[in-house]
Amino acid sequence: MEKSESVIQGFANRRTFLKNGMMAAGATAVAAGLLPGRVSAFGEEDEKSGRLTKGDAAILRFLAAAEILETDLWVQYNELGGVQDNEVPGGSGSAPYTTALQVLDMDMPQYIHDNTEDEFTHEDFINAYLASKGADIVDLEPFRTLPGSKATGSSGKPRLTNLMELTVDTSWWTRYRSRTKNPDFGDTFPQAIPSLAVGKHPAIPRTDDDLTPHDHIQAIANTAGFHFGTIEQGGTSLYPSLAQRVTSVEVLRIVLSIGPTEAMHFQTWQDKAGNAPPLTDPKDPTLVFPNLNAPPFGGEDFQTNLIMPEPTVFLRGSLPVCSIVRPTGTKGAAMGAATFLTAMGLFRGQSPAFFAALRDLAEDADEARRECERRDE
Ligand SMILES: [Fe+2]
Ligand SMILES: [Fe+2]
Repeated sequence: MEKSESVIQGFANRRTFLKNGMMAAGATAVAAGLLPGRVSAFGEEDEKSGRLTKGDAAILRFLAAAEILETDLWVQYNELGGVQDNEVPGGSGSAPYTTALQVLDMDMPQYIHDNTEDEFTHEDFINAYLASKGADIVDLEPFRTLPGSKATGSSGKPRLTNLMELTVDTSWWTRYRSRTKNPDFGDTFPQAIPSLAVGKHPAIPRTDDDLTPHDHIQAIANTAGFHFGTIEQGGTSLYPSLAQRVTSVEVLRIVLSIGPTEAMHFQTWQDKAGNAPPLTDPKDPTLVFPNLNAPPFGGEDFQTNLIMPEPTVFLRGSLPVCSIVRPTGTKGAAMGAATFLTAMGLFRGQSPAFFAALRDLAEDADEARRECERRDE
């Protein structure tokens, strides 16, 4: 291994889970008909990047991990508030939670279902592609230890992510409405829902006690409505950020083809979040959803029907403003995503080995360089 010196804590764990994962997820892929007859050949593969460059394999593995985590959280939303069917099985729905979500849009269950299915396909495709190139794939099943919701409708199976103690950053709302600022220039943005950005908030009912009173389950649905946007704007930035360091044109095609679907999700959720009814959670009066169209909110920074990105400064101040995804800076993008997901409380209760593995995958992805650039250096 070329990098034995630089790899610190978590290396042993990660090698263990990649090797174990190779077996477990390979078997899953075969069961799903994705990799007929490939398991043994690929199980004997020693080169972890296979026919990919080390950097491309590392970027795809970080994206696979992110997609596995996305899938896990979306499955929890689908079990309680989506459409449970043979495309996205599991759970049996919570009528009070689903009804509260439908206040944001009658089609919320269908959108939740479709977003969940998309994440499954992202995860499966990236891992299957890695395997097809003889590269190690990612499997996080050993970390499926969190208890999840006990509310009626939940499957009750162990989870990778925690949707019951979230600290939701809603600054994407004002970031995409600003005409003068860009996070790639170091700019920061006010929160749309300041009280969601502090404390710990459930985005799904934790037990049936959360189903009443009405405004409490609505506050949980509102939290979910904003969390959907928070997650998907992250994916919208992550793919173009990492694409800049991909070498293979085919890997670039993968990244450029999945990334925009994250933007389609984000666009939908941004529109729906604006329909979250203003209220104060009767079981947690510190949680307030303000009317974003009225003072002290309102105006271009908050207006709820302003859902297309405002043009803003891009690359250099001397260039004209441009309607763009933001941020797209590539330096440290994977670690930035890992830190962002951790800070929102998505992994509260996870083991130190989980965080070490996530950090290690992010570090490797951030070490990736375009091969042509490397030759120029
Ligand atoms: Fe995804
Ligand atoms: Fe996504």
